[in-house]
Amino acid sequence: MLYTRENENQRMARNVKSKRALAENCASTIYALTAAIDAKDHYTFSHSNHVAQYASILAEALELVAEHIEIIRQAGLLHDIGKIGTPEAILSKTTRLTQEEYEIMKQHVEASISMIKYLPSLDYVIPSVLGHHERWDGGGYPRGLSGNAIPIGARCLCLADSFDAMISKRSYKEAMSVEEAIGEIRRNQGTQFDPELAVLFIQLIESGKIQIHNDGY
Ligand SMILES: [Fe+2]
Repeated sequence: MLYTRENENQRMARNVKSKRALAENCASTIYALTAAIDAKDHYTFSHSNHVAQYASILAEALELVAEHIEIIRQAGLLHDIGKIGTPEAILSKTTRLTQEEYEIMKQHVEASISMIKYLPSLDYVIPSVLGHHERWDGGGYPRGLSGNAIPIGARCLCLADSFDAMISKRSYKEAMSVEEAIGEIRRNQGTQFDPELAVLFIQLIESGKIQIHNDGY
């Protein structure tokens, strides 16, 4: 069996059952938060929608339970919400970030958690959001977790996030083609990305199960 999917599914099912009713009422809270990031930075808003979609299709293909797939989708919508606190000059910078600016940018992960923790009904997204910049080889942030110690939702978000960032035009770079982005994922499987998840993600793109948004953001 890939990963410890069954155990993780059982644990998640137990954890989320009591919160299911609450989760169904969270849509308006999530909408308000994503509207706030949209007002600051439309790029992040569109990007978060794409990440939510790609990551939840990957979670579905992994046969995670429905509640866990929904958590990963919601975590995708909220994963960069902390960028509300990132200075405009850094978010829209057209040249490479300095080391100091990069350190400030990295703080968006913990800033996201600081916002979400005040919403107890949404706290189940925290493991995925907190881990979305961790790397399979342990070189990521904020905690430097590696391998299966990174929650599976975070590993799904990492692939979806990186893929959408690669195929998007940003203030500091042109968009990569889908083929180039797939090549990058292949090159970085086992270092940045969970290798088994990366293979599955590429299959989902190549088979058309993941429909790609190339809407300029
Ligand atoms: Fe992020």
